[in-house]
Amino acid sequence: MNVNCLEGSKHFHTVSFNSKENIVILINQKKLPHQFSLVETTDFYQTAAAIQDMTVRGAGAIGATAAFGFAQGCNSFKDNSLELFEKHWKKVFNTLAKARPTAVDPVNAMRNIIDKMKSGTSVESQQQIALEAAYQFAEDDIAHCVAIGQHGSPLIQDGMTLLTHCNAGWLAFVDIGSATAPIYTAHKEGKRFQVFCDETRPRSQGAILTAWELAQQGIPHRVISDNAAGHFMQRGQIQMVITGADRVLAKTGEAANKIGTFSKAVLAKYHNIPFYIAIPLSTIDWQTEKGADIPIEERDEDEVLCAWGAKEPSTSSKEYIPQKIRIANSSSHALNPGFDITPAELITGFITPFGIFSPKELGNKIKEFLSVK
Ligand code: MRU
Repeated sequence: MNVNCLEGSKHFHTVSFNSKENIVILINQKKLPHQFSLVETTDFYQTAAAIQDMTVRGAGAIGATAAFGFAQGCNSFKDNSLELFEKHWKKVFNTLAKARPTAVDPVNAMRNIIDKMKSGTSVESQQQIALEAAYQFAEDDIAHCVAIGQHGSPLIQDGMTLLTHCNAGWLAFVDIGSATAPIYTAHKEGKRFQVFCDETRPRSQGAILTAWELAQQGIPHRVISDNAAGHFMQRGQIQMVITGADRVLAKTGEAANKIGTFSKAVLAKYHNIPFYIAIPLSTIDWQTEKGADIPIEERDEDEVLCAWGAKEPSTSSKEYIPQKIRIANSSSHALNPGFDITPAELITGFITPFGIFSPKELGNKIKEFLSVK
């Protein structure tokens, strides 16, 4: 999408790869919304670290980063032995896979690359296959988001207020976003509506990233505190919820998404408000039997006990100065699960690249579309 805070307006992808230099290029999401900058990772360890420390975050974006990081790791291998190469790429896979456990996209992306590599008969040909497959993953991610936009946009009507949680926008993908795709498409079509962005404590991706994205694209929006959605729903001021997901179980239709999603889904059900989840195919987990088996990332307690922000620039300097402030009682500890599971019965439908499906029909419908492709 275009970034307008720079001089002029320029198109950026959240994640890209310079195959000549073997460098992954990322928008540094830790600096947003106060500073727009890119960072480069020069080996797969650095790429895994960028996923882990959330320089890059969001299911599709870490999927593409893992895909490029995997190709990067493969490329750095300098020997002709296929046996040693396999040992090496397994290490690359494990390093990238464990960077963040809940989103399934990184593992899906890398498994897909590994499957394709089997047709290569030399290290060099497998390295080339890995590279092409990583680019393909990134292209598919964009194409899926475009299609999600086309299928989801008809849900949005003039005068609506939509609620979204966390950031499933273009910063969470290579481009466009999943939850934001219908929003961007409807906006292009000239529909008039507004978006409420849940603040999404503790890391505030809604207030920081979704609000920044929507502002860049000129979409009317308001940041609301995490506790305010029930109030607005009760007063008839929210007509639809669209979120993304980090993992959706094909077998049950349950969805793992940013902590707080489950409670918004309960509220939506209580108020009879449609609750949609937008996902590309890489977010589908075909194996896991039930939501309780999904690994939930436990994050640092400091994220809950403290808040991060930036001091406004003084008149003499333009720089926002990053600050961490302790909020909670100094002797208290916190619990900080990063994600929760929304049961299928609370989800009205999944907006996918192939259409909108109920949780019950999701797995079979996607299989049907894939088999006729
Ligand atoms: O911890 P994050 O920021 O990587 O969490 C991911 C998210 O932003 C959300 O859970 C999002 O809705 C799904 S990612 C498309």
